[in-house]
Amino acid sequence: MSTSLVARFSTSVVKKVAMGITGLLLCGFLISHLTGNFLIFVGPDAFNLYAHTLTSNPLIYGAEAILMAIFLGHLFMAVRLVIENKLARPTPYYVKKPTGHGATFASSTMPYTGLIILIFLVLHLIQFKYGTYFETTVDGVTMRNLYKTVIDFFTSPVNVVLYIVAMAALSLHVSHGFWSAFQSVGFNHPKYTPCINTLGKIFAVVVFLGYSSLPIFCFLQGGQS
Ligand code: HEM
Repeated sequence: MSTSLVARFSTSVVKKVAMGITGLLLCGFLISHLTGNFLIFVGPDAFNLYAHTLTSNPLIYGAEAILMAIFLGHLFMAVRLVIENKLARPTPYYVKKPTGHGATFASSTMPYTGLIILIFLVLHLIQFKYGTYFETTVDGVTMRNLYKTVIDFFTSPVNVVLYIVAMAALSLHVSHGFWSAFQSVGFNHPKYTPCINTLGKIFAVVVFLGYSSLPIFCFLQGGQS
């Protein structure tokens, strides 16, 4: 291999590994965000106290900056890969074959489901993080009533349906992304790769059912906050 070919190969490997690592870290965020959000089922005080404890910790600014950097890094590399693949390759990088029988629906729609997630995320932050501000008092401490913000938003069946559609796109994205991320970081073994493929599918189902259950629960609670 010529020096320039070696250099090109190693940068493309670095990009794939970085894509895989950022993807796996975002999967970790999805689990921790879902676990915290499940406190909505417990009730307003539990959820508001959880959100207040998180946001009043000064370390939250560092954690948010890291999360933002991981997300933007993942997005930036994804856009580059899509452009590079369009220009150079007959089979795009993201269309790898977990089954060995060709591209799956999930693998070939990665850029589109990714775009839906991006749009969802921008609207999500506007609606909840920077959305309508209500106050409440829990154990003598005044804090943001985020529970009411969320419940009020999901009194609209249109919002519930749009969220569930976005969660379907997210689930499809991670169903391929989870497996692909392990491949990209070099975890490729004939015995374990099928297990990771199955684990990815289970993860996608958990993400879909877990995140979709929240708007449905809030809709059913509507007016009682
Ligand atoms: C129905 C499902 C969901 C509910 C009820 C929900 C709820 C919330 C709430 C209430 C906040 C504001 C937290 C605060 O200001 O303290 C928030 C922030 C956030 N959500 Fe969600 N979320 C859901 C799904 C998702 C999904 C699927 C993603 C990722 C694709 C996501 C990513 C984020 C991010 C990145 C933040 C900002 C975190 C931060 O600033 O620390 N959420 N979510």
